[in-house]
Amino acid sequence: MLRIIGIVGSLRKHSYNQSLFTAFVENAPDGVEILQAPIDALPFYNQDIEEPYPEAAETVKTLLATADGFIIITPEYNRGIPGILKNAIDWMSRPRGASPFANKPVLIAGASDGNIGTAVAQASLKGTLLHLNAHVLGKPEFYVGMAQEKFDSNGNLTDEKTKEFIVSALDTLVAIVQLHTK
Ligand code: FNR
Repeated sequence: MLRIIGIVGSLRKHSYNQSLFTAFVENAPDGVEILQAPIDALPFYNQDIEEPYPEAAETVKTLLATADGFIIITPEYNRGIPGILKNAIDWMSRPRGASPFANKPVLIAGASDGNIGTAVAQASLKGTLLHLNAHVLGKPEFYVGMAQEKFDSNGNLTDEKTKEFIVSALDTLVAIVQLHTK
């Protein structure tokens, strides 16, 4: 069984990005489990509280250590990634040199209510993850624009093209994860 861990950069109850992640989970191929990291309990990163490492951060880090690959789904806030996502990545990068993302394939995706579907935030996220030596997939680029037209009021993905894209993006991610785990 391959394990993909997802991180979602929105805490909002009716989050499009959370709904997008759920659609990834629902389309997981046979032999692949997709779990979500509980980043909502993390404190604000502060180097003063790094030792002892907080329990909430330990919980996330322990889970991330079991990942064969990652899916990171980000909203775009003011042309950047939301603070809660950056906070989670910063916690995971500490102590220095122990990043769970190193040498692991990472698929990035995101949904917004605008036209460019988090493209600017994703470009910034790629830079951060590359710094942590993650193997960020250059393709597919996964931008869900006008999300309000692609999910129903219960958060179900209704857009067929996006559904098909999820299936093919998962195929690509799994193929690369398999190369890494050989
Ligand atoms: C936004 N939104 C937004 N959208 C976008 O495409 N580019 C942007 O730079 C921003 N900036 C931004 C800042 C802040 C503070 C908020 C709250 C929102 C709109 C954003 O795409 C929309 O609220 C999404 O619904 C957020 O994602 P979730 O919470 O639905 O996953």
